Amino acid sequence: MSKKTINDFYQMVKNGEKIVYLTAYDYLTAKMEEKAGVDMILVGDSLGMVCLGYDTTFPVTMDDMVRHCQAVRRGAPNTFIVGDMPYMSYQISDEQAITNAGRFVKEAGCDAIKLEGAGAQITSRIKAIQEAGILVMGHIGLTPQFMGQLGGYKAQGRSAKAALNLVKQAKRVEEAGAFSILVEGVPSAVGKAITERANFPVLGIGAGPYTHGQLLIYADMVGLYDNFTPKFVKKYSNVGEVLTNAFTEYVNDVRSQQFPEDGKHTYLMKDDEKAEFLTLLEKED
Ligand code: KIV
Repeated sequence: MSKKTINDFYQMVKNGEKIVYLTAYDYLTAKMEEKAGVDMILVGDSLGMVCLGYDTTFPVTMDDMVRHCQAVRRGAPNTFIVGDMPYMSYQISDEQAITNAGRFVKEAGCDAIKLEGAGAQITSRIKAIQEAGILVMGHIGLTPQFMGQLGGYKAQGRSAKAALNLVKQAKRVEEAGAFSILVEGVPSAVGKAITERANFPVLGIGAGPYTHGQLLIYADMVGLYDNFTPKFVKKYSNVGEVLTNAFTEYVNDVRSQQFPEDGKHTYLMKDDEKAEFLTLLEKED
């Protein structure tokens, strides 16, 4: 299957086909996701929590992001990849934002970048990056890099005024030149209102069923990340338990000398070579 482009995504929206979006952070996972047929992969700065063990996404660096995007690109050469701009990689100036967005494309082969927010400075960044020829996905609603201002990791747009504000934010992101927007952690009614008014693909994570596509953090939906699980996650598997059981069995096998089994998990030597080896050893000893 050839890699989808923005034209394909616009066509999918027109045809009423849902866009399937999933995070990945490494080569192996990206390879499986491409095989499964996902349309778009996000290398999210959630990698800070999922892969690097931080409590938040704040410590993630551009070098972390580029390294993981490169691995994902190697695993999924034919999938549209979005690189997530980490905290303080675009907030300072348009120049800083263009430089770092460029690294995702130039060093990691990403097809687009994503950044959070919809204030005047952020829309200026969106405009600047897209004028440099790079596709930008906006991100509004529950935006983890604004966690302090949002008062924690909780659903947004639950009051009428806050909901209306999100609809306006989505329009501002569209007008700034983003090719798409991700809406996170909002009531379905808000996801629906934004989608109905949008002229670009609206992807949702915890934004209800009406958006043009759905995103999940892969480690949540396969049961790998269990520090906390948001309400909007559907668990498709319990890979964490499967792996823990396998590791436990291995620990027990090694300790009880059930593994490795000679001949089954070991390299063999021809009888005559082995006999000669033992003779040589005897002489050496
Ligand atoms: O970093 C990430 O994976 C994200 C999602 C939570 C939307 O931005």
